[in-house]
Amino acid sequence: MLTGKKVLVGVTGGIAAYKAAEVVSRLRKLGVEVHVAMTKSATEFITPLTLRSLSTNPVYVDMFDEPKLWNVEHIALAEYVDSVIIAPATANILAKMTTGIADDFLSTVLLATRAPIFVAPAMNHAMYHHPATQENLSRLKERGIKIIGPGTGFQACGTEGDGRMSEAVEIVETVTQWFSGQDCLKGKKALVTAGGTQEPLDPVRYLGNRSSGKMGYAVAQALQEAGAETILVSAPTDLPTPSGVTRVSVHTALEMYDAVLERFPNIDVVVKAAAVADYRPATQAEQKIKKDGVSRTIDLIPNPDILAELGRRKTSQVLIGFAAETENLLANAQEKMHRKNVNLLVANDVTKPGAGFGSPTNIVSFLFPDGRRIDFPQMSKLEVARNLVAEIANLLGT
Ligand code: CTP
Repeated sequence: MLTGKKVLVGVTGGIAAYKAAEVVSRLRKLGVEVHVAMTKSATEFITPLTLRSLSTNPVYVDMFDEPKLWNVEHIALAEYVDSVIIAPATANILAKMTTGIADDFLSTVLLATRAPIFVAPAMNHAMYHHPATQENLSRLKERGIKIIGPGTGFQACGTEGDGRMSEAVEIVETVTQWFSGQDCLKGKKALVTAGGTQEPLDPVRYLGNRSSGKMGYAVAQALQEAGAETILVSAPTDLPTPSGVTRVSVHTALEMYDAVLERFPNIDVVVKAAAVADYRPATQAEQKIKKDGVSRTIDLIPNPDILAELGRRKTSQVLIGFAAETENLLANAQEKMHRKNVNLLVANDVTKPGAGFGSPTNIVSFLFPDGRRIDFPQMSKLEVARNLVAEIANLLGT
């Protein structure tokens, strides 16, 4: 899967830097075009000459060295490579990546690249467990950066614990596996809905819900990463559209209904992560409703159930629904799965800490019509999305 890919190996200053030589060598043996960027401190542990010899390419250390291949090298390299692997990744580079500090060649490339980034942390176990490092790692994870390891065992400082860099073989295997998952939905068309619909009462007010759209946006990103041509039908959110995804903006449940139904015949998989309003105000005032001191009643009429309608119309499409529940999670979710005729239902209890609306993480179960169930621990919404994509690939037989 890696043959012909262009990979930048970033080496930072820790004792595990010597293992970077094996990472480079293993990648080369797989037919990868390897480039190496080192921090100044990394050069204290291993020489650029070693990595130049193994990669057969010039090694980048200083921002202001004589250009080797390109004019603006950090930008050109950032755009050129298919992936970046930081091995070892010190606590320092993780902190710089989290805050966007770019004060040397490697950190500048990391800020400029849009390629997937893998980091293999390596540090003393106290540094690894420091809240700052843990917070940085979880923020990087949320951004989609893939963390490999670290492993546990004897550390160079003489103590035992976690913080050892994963072995080169494991790092290269993780990257290979990730690339092989990349194309699993190539040629497939996916549609995702996200966010909470807004049902207008008058020109300035609406009925809405607490959905942030994060789960649906993560699903769209994961589908796109897996090679699917992805359309995101989105109710209003503050989130940027994931790169490579086509966004169709809607406000109301009826607009979402039209946008989804119109595209449905040409789609292979639909993921309905949106929180759709079940009701809308029966009338929408043309002018702002003025207060008059007396109590009011809003007359609500039902919106169509988009997912149930897709369940009725589906032919070969794979349908994924979500169930946001506050009580009787599994029983309610089972009932929804059958009523809406979906192939997989993602159930989550939105009242649990670390799950539901607005949270960067989620705690979900996947339910299948044949009675199978997979319970996941708390993980980032992007990780949930990637697990979902793996199941979608199974359901589509790809
Ligand atoms: N859904 C939909 N159209 C609606 C309501 C819900 O397509 N009008 C979809 C959601 O996108 C989600 C699934 O149905 O994938 C379940 O949504 P949820 O709000 O949990 O369930 P409801 O069917 O609305 O049932 P209830 O509100 O009674 O829990």
